[in-house]
Amino acid sequence: MSVRCALPAGHSRLRRRRPRATRYTPPLQRFPLSTTNATAAEPLQPDPHAVDARQQLRRQLRRRRRELDVRAQRRAALMLARRLMRLAELRRARRVALYLPEGGEIDPRPLIDWLHQRGAEIYLPVLRPLVENRLWFVRLMADTQMTLNRFQIAEPSLRQSAARHRRVRPEMLDVVLMPLVGFDRQGHRLGMGGGFYDRTFAFKRYRSTRPVLIGVAHACQQVSALPAQPWDVGLDLIASDREVLRVDD
Ligand SMILES: Nc1ncnc2c1ncn2[C@@H]1O[C@H](COP(=O)(O)OP(=O)(O)O)[C@@H](O)[C@H]1O
Ligand SMILES: [Mg+2]
Repeated sequence: MSVRCALPAGHSRLRRRRPRATRYTPPLQRFPLSTTNATAAEPLQPDPHAVDARQQLRRQLRRRRRELDVRAQRRAALMLARRLMRLAELRRARRVALYLPEGGEIDPRPLIDWLHQRGAEIYLPVLRPLVENRLWFVRLMADTQMTLNRFQIAEPSLRQSAARHRRVRPEMLDVVLMPLVGFDRQGHRLGMGGGFYDRTFAFKRYRSTRPVLIGVAHACQQVSALPAQPWDVGLDLIASDREVLRVDD
């Protein structure tokens, strides 16, 4: 099993810009950070400060995962892979989307060799050009060339991604592993704040078809409750280094 397999030569030398500082928001009390108190769900209430609160929570959780050292990251990645490899949804999947980890995200790359050996196709998200905050899914192949997108995240080059034969429609994927900034046990997710996955998989809100959406994160990114926004796409499963949660409808 190799965690380096998806990185093109020279990728590690690419420089990443630090995300720009976001404006100050008041201290957060509404979303207590908790990895143990799993049952303390709070009632969902509309809150004029919800957007600010979500931003502040994002910052706290992103910092938390960035602080994990290399050994903790490596161990978490292997634990996650071990749990995911047991899942029927992934074992029978022919087309699987995953991502290259960034900023302390849990690393799904130990799955790549295993998936290839099972004959599955692997796809990576690419920021769609000309359309607001949506994703393409582009097949990871031996000749895939990576570039940095506007967030300084590595993705298949736009030239290759534009070729239709390298892409798959989101509804044709069997399983999507999506990185979480935060999650709760009810299946609510907090992403980076662009709504990319929400927009791309909005069709899942009306018909519960493919793909199976699996949010992945470090266990320390769990919070007791997240308010669901009307546009948020729910997760089918959440997998962390510690456990796999099946989300009931
Ligand atoms: N299907 C959609 N159509 C239009 N806008 C959307 C859709 N899904 C999400 N958005 C917008 O994307 C923005 C970010 O969504 P949010 O859920 O806060 O981010 P994230 O899911 O990355 O944590 C919100 O302002 C929301 O209005
Ligand atoms: Mg969302």
